[in-house]
Amino acid sequence: MILDSWPFTFYQTLYNTFLVSIAAYATYYTYWQCTSGASHRRFISHHGCQPARKMRHYDPILGLDFLWRMYRALKSQKALETTKAGFDRVGAKTCQLTILGQTMFATIEPENLKSVMSLDCKNWSLGEERKKHMIPFLGEGILETDGEKWHQSREMLRPNFVRKEIGDLELFERHVQNLIQAIPRDGKMVDLQPLFFAFTLDAATEFLFGESVLTLKPNEGNPDAAEFVRAFTYCQHAAEGQSEDWGMLTIFMNSPRLKGQYKIVHVFVDSLIAKAMQSRQKYEIEKEHSNRRIFIQELLKQTTNAAKLRAESLNILLAGRDTTASLLSNVWFELSRRPAIYSRLRSEIDTLGNEIPSFEELKQLKYLRALLNESLRLYPVVPENSRQAEADTCLPVGGGPDGKSPVFVKKGQYVLWSCFAMHRRRDLYGEDAEDFRVCSRSCLNPYFLPKRLLIQIFAIA
Ligand code: HEM
Repeated sequence: MILDSWPFTFYQTLYNTFLVSIAAYATYYTYWQCTSGASHRRFISHHGCQPARKMRHYDPILGLDFLWRMYRALKSQKALETTKAGFDRVGAKTCQLTILGQTMFATIEPENLKSVMSLDCKNWSLGEERKKHMIPFLGEGILETDGEKWHQSREMLRPNFVRKEIGDLELFERHVQNLIQAIPRDGKMVDLQPLFFAFTLDAATEFLFGESVLTLKPNEGNPDAAEFVRAFTYCQHAAEGQSEDWGMLTIFMNSPRLKGQYKIVHVFVDSLIAKAMQSRQKYEIEKEHSNRRIFIQELLKQTTNAAKLRAESLNILLAGRDTTASLLSNVWFELSRRPAIYSRLRSEIDTLGNEIPSFEELKQLKYLRALLNESLRLYPVVPENSRQAEADTCLPVGGGPDGKSPVFVKKGQYVLWSCFAMHRRRDLYGEDAEDFRVCSRSCLNPYFLPKRLLIQIFAIA
């Protein structure tokens, strides 16, 4: 009997479940339309928002085609060019796309960046994804926090970045000398980039901990430094979705190897912090006779919380090391191919004579500054970035057929941007936008440094 009736009972149950689901969805939809939906419509009409152009997806639901394209681009080291080509293909400076089922916006409009990073920054956060991947590695420091926590970090770090604290050019001079020594003199071709990365790591660790890892002089430095550097680089690549083991997939997982590498980084930094704690008194006495400041010692005056100390110092290490090394590499790449620019720079530098320049003298080197700006324009060292909307808000431009109307962005949605593509826009920088031309353009800030960046001055030094 039971067997005879089971198909009927089964289909009846399925049918009932289907009806209940439809009814539940309809109720939820009506409720949503009367509450959030109504508030969205009000926002859209109040601000005159129009939809942004949509990127065409072969997989409009999950956007897997887009992910696959980006994966291949990353593999072939063409991610930035692929993003730029994506904007050209869509034919818009702001567009809507789908990634893993989520609607996002991508833009190369300076107005939109200004709004997200500065004018409307209270409505935007770094985003949950960034925090999820960076916090296990770096801890909760300035690069991973928003709101009150970010304010606390900033206040804690600020005294370390006033000019007199960072104007210790002798520190840089020592490491520049090590760098020059490390360049082979046999006249053969040399790859300077790894040396620049070693140089900035050496200088940054001395600035942060008072003790350099001295990777340019491996026989003199801390014996654990090499392992730390390998682990730091591994974790950084993993956080950027470019791990050697898992590639882009790393962003979905915390592999046991990755956890082991975090541990190596943390143990090494903790040991430097412990040493700094032991030498606090000595530092204070020496400080009376010298103008040498050590970041971690200054931080210790504000907190002895080991996790906080580690997080803030690792954050500054990450923020300062690659940016500066990449900038140096890009500048020297161009200098090596452009003798005219090199000789003009040389003449300007020669005006300094043989003395170590002061911070103020460095700032007077106008050609050098223009050269750095041009490098940062054509090869921005933070080439792509993103933020997540913390509340319903809008991008000021990018909507409608002419792309001039505001675009509505729902709470939780992401906006992504590419400085690389924006800095190569011909309508902004002229027909020769993709050429390296020092001093030829001064109209637009070449690299978009956000309002919240307090360290610009250190980068200039
Ligand atoms: C060429 C040099 C540099 C460029 C172009 C640059 C660019 C940037 C950009 C675009 C951000 C915003 C990132 C984001 O929030 O998503 C940022 C943040 C930051 N950078 Fe740099 N940076 C440079 C050098 C440095 C150096 C040398 C240091 C430290 C020694 C540093 C420390 C920081 C810190 C602490 C933040 C977080 C600021 C905050 O949230 O308030 N940067 N940088």
